[in-house]
Amino acid sequence: MKASIFYHSVSGYTKDMAEVIAQSMNNSSGMEAKAFSITDYDADWAKESQCVIIGTPIYMATLSGELKLWLEKVAPTFGLAGKLGGAFATEQYIHGGGEAGIRVILDHLLCYGMLTYSGGGSKGKPVIHLGPVSVNQYAEDCRATFEIYGQRMAQKAMELFA
Ligand SMILES: Cc1cc2nc3c(=O)[nH]c(=O)nc-3n(C[C@H](O)[C@H](O)[C@H](O)COP(=O)(O)O)c2cc1C
Repeated sequence: MKASIFYHSVSGYTKDMAEVIAQSMNNSSGMEAKAFSITDYDADWAKESQCVIIGTPIYMATLSGELKLWLEKVAPTFGLAGKLGGAFATEQYIHGGGEAGIRVILDHLLCYGMLTYSGGGSKGKPVIHLGPVSVNQYAEDCRATFEIYGQRMAQKAMELFA
């Protein structure tokens, strides 16, 4: 089963975390995940993906403008209705706006008819409320949560679609 993890990234933090999620999903039996920049991606892979996860750098306490435009113009061309969706963010500061950015991405995915998911508190600790957020200076510490998020998203995709 295919999965696509899209990111907007200028200095690489969001790209790194997208790759952590993809690698973690690929460790789940039956999943094939690829991470793509929003400017360089395989549209056929995205259309065939049952799970689509989208990551943003936090700009002005919300998602980046470039990602918002991409969510409006490009994401709907992938036929997202009924697929599993998720979101993540990277930020420079604790309380820099990560959850706010994630919520806006999830709003878009809901508008496209996706089944949005994070695992929430249903999987025990770490509780990943809306989606994982990495704070740059603690990025190494945050990796483990992104790995667990990838496992949980892969597990849910397999439950729903395998
Ligand atoms: C225009 C701009 C606005 C930003 N605004 C915020 C912000 O509101 N809160 C925050 O924590 N970090 C902010 N940052 C920092 C980025 O969110 C952070 O460095 C992010 O990890 C960059 O991701 P990237 O390396 O994938 O490009 C801002 C960065 C830029 C360039």
